[in-house]
Amino acid sequence: NDKKPTSIVIFGATGDLAKRKLFPAFFNLFLDGWMPEDFELLSLGRTEHTQEEFRNYILENINDFSRIKNFSEEKWNQFKEKIKFVRFDITQEESFIQLKNQLDGIDAKLGARANRLFYLSVAPSFIEKVSKSLKENGLANNMNQDRMIIEKPFGYDKDSAVALNAMLAQTFKEEQIYRIDHYLGKENVQNILAFRFGNTIFEPLWNNKYIDSVQITVAETVGVEDRGGYYDGSGALRDMIQNHLMQILCMVAMEPPTAFESTEIRNRKVDVLKSVRRINLEDINHYTVRAQYTEGEIDGKKKLGYLAEPGVNPNSNTETYVAMKFYVDNERWKGVPFYMRTGKRMSKKESSIVISFKEVPCTTFQDRIKKMQPNKLTINIQPEMDINLSFMTKKPGLDMKLKPAEMVFDYFECAPDTPEAYETLLLDALDGDSTLFMRSDQVEEAWDVIANIQTAWENGNVSKMVTYPAGSSGPEAADELLKRQGHTWLSNSNETLKTKK
Ligand code: BG6
Repeated sequence: NDKKPTSIVIFGATGDLAKRKLFPAFFNLFLDGWMPEDFELLSLGRTEHTQEEFRNYILENINDFSRIKNFSEEKWNQFKEKIKFVRFDITQEESFIQLKNQLDGIDAKLGARANRLFYLSVAPSFIEKVSKSLKENGLANNMNQDRMIIEKPFGYDKDSAVALNAMLAQTFKEEQIYRIDHYLGKENVQNILAFRFGNTIFEPLWNNKYIDSVQITVAETVGVEDRGGYYDGSGALRDMIQNHLMQILCMVAMEPPTAFESTEIRNRKVDVLKSVRRINLEDINHYTVRAQYTEGEIDGKKKLGYLAEPGVNPNSNTETYVAMKFYVDNERWKGVPFYMRTGKRMSKKESSIVISFKEVPCTTFQDRIKKMQPNKLTINIQPEMDINLSFMTKKPGLDMKLKPAEMVFDYFECAPDTPEAYETLLLDALDGDSTLFMRSDQVEEAWDVIANIQTAWENGNVSKMVTYPAGSSGPEAADELLKRQGHTWLSNSNETLKTKK
């Protein structure tokens, strides 16, 4: 293990993300031997805890929430020694000075300056304070060794993201800033590039000559859980479309990078975002649908409507569902609609990409089959993880009839132990590889793509809010959006629904 000694500092270590994702991810990396030989997890929180209490709390949550691959008591006992709870008040300079002493103490013991990785799992309003105090108190003064991971939301709109980037640039070099979008760590999202650029047979078809439309779906069955307060000030457009779905769009639509290297890959992604056609204010209704869930049922259990959720304003005008159509106006994609949708409290959890190919141009079989089913490539990101290619084939028998068939590559079958997104991303940050993180211009451009939609929706009378019952596949208006161009949503949840009917 040649990894550099690293002091990992988690701001917000008693928060939800840390217990559900960060500690389990670090523990799994540790179990698999990926962590540096020397590391400490300085876990910062506001309330007093003894080391034993905090470590037990982490252990309980690891057991409750996470898939730990091969838990061993012995390994846990080694790992827990690395966790150091530090009582910390972000608003007090004194806390930063003490933290610096602690970090310097670690270096003195090692006899070398350890790398420092600061994880900011804090409310956006604290980012400025933390980054300035880190700088001013000399905690992050080594440009080559100190890194900072920032959670979303990264800004609230384009202007606030530009301001945040400018502020961070006063303290850190761009290469030190790791803006996390956990969708980029998901296996089958990373696989898009392998699939496209590691094969000869798909890329020649990957354009407007052969592709009819692209659909990206991220559906969740969960509601706003205990995040009503945050979510109500955000909504699905900011919470999901601006980041996760835009990143998926970039992976599907980007030009081939000359190398699998962070600057090159991120350049190609920014190119896509720049080519996305901006929707005019007066056309927002034509291209977008926004909706809120009302009460309903999922798996036989009653669910509240959004407006009755704790933390949500009962008159809220915040959307929990978005469907929209985009065009990427470049040579490859001109004229191909990219449909996106995401929603909470849907009938089924599903993240997928569907590439629909055009109809066969020849008439060979027109007398033998009423409707040829065009080829369809489905990339299921979660919970299923597979790639599914549908094509026409001869129906076995004495006469010449056709039927659709499928070829499936299933990730779980060949690798049931695929890593969690946070494991991949934390390891990359430890290694100083920012390929799967968002660069400042990417974030700003993604905000720019949705800027007019934000303006129109904030100006409530321009765009109507529709509703959908919890446990449904979304509002009818989302089907209408596609019908206008002769399309329908093609992913699993719709098909399941159809078969049920
Ligand atoms: C987060 C959003 O970024 O992604 C949440 O803030 C959402 O609202 C979550 O539930 C979805 O992530 P995953 O990995 O469960 O699909």
